[in-house]
Amino acid sequence: MKKLIVGNWKMNGNLTANQDLLVALAGNQNVASGACDAAVCAPVSYLFQLKNVLETTRWMWGAQDVSAHDAGAYTGEVSAGMLKDFNVRYVLVGHSERRQYHGESDSLVAAKAQRALAAGITPIVCVGETLAERERGETMDVVKRQLAAVIHAVGHCATELVVAYEPVWAIGTGQTASPPQAQAVHAVLRAQLVAACGEHGMSSRILYGGSMTAANAAALLAENDIDGGLIGGASLKPTDFSSILFAASAA
Ligand code: 13P
Repeated sequence: MKKLIVGNWKMNGNLTANQDLLVALAGNQNVASGACDAAVCAPVSYLFQLKNVLETTRWMWGAQDVSAHDAGAYTGEVSAGMLKDFNVRYVLVGHSERRQYHGESDSLVAAKAQRALAAGITPIVCVGETLAERERGETMDVVKRQLAAVIHAVGHCATELVVAYEPVWAIGTGQTASPPQAQAVHAVLRAQLVAACGEHGMSSRILYGGSMTAANAAALLAENDIDGGLIGGASLKPTDFSSILFAASAA
């Protein structure tokens, strides 16, 4: 299946720097030719800028979080409907930084995925174990529990999810999961999607994230069940990001 590369800017950027980065992305030939699919998830304050620069290209864009509520007295929250006003295609839900620093539970993440789907936005459901969980041999149980909560909540819509496996110990650390390590987890997630959605689960994309770089992208993307990448740090560097897009196009 065609690979999907998603940049997650996290809480980085400003209007001037974004413009340079987005103009560089807009000119990327691998994306323009349709050799790979690509998106950028930016802070909500910049969605208008993403829409302006990218709407005439094949790039898609997204947000990094969404409210579990529809509308009302939820100060500081941004609803799925509001994101839709900026034509977002994707929204990250359950990123480990949200789970860790904002106490997001599996059920809250599932509610957010539901809201996104109801608004016509594809949730990118992030799952992944901490180092302590890996060392205790709990990796598969943790990721299955995190994904099960979302599948249970969204029912037949599970086919519309993108899943991202991001081992917490690999995020921003320069310590990447080896391709076989990542593939082993992706195979378990694939089996779970197939169990929930039958053959359709074969066509759901499962991305890898966690210190994916220009140097290791090709080897990771060569694995059977690694259908793309969710890129943090390297997505802020046009040259590195374009090498990853090249690797995804060649995979
Ligand atoms: P890094 O690529 O910086 O490790 O971040 C990964 C990530 O968290 C993407 O969502």
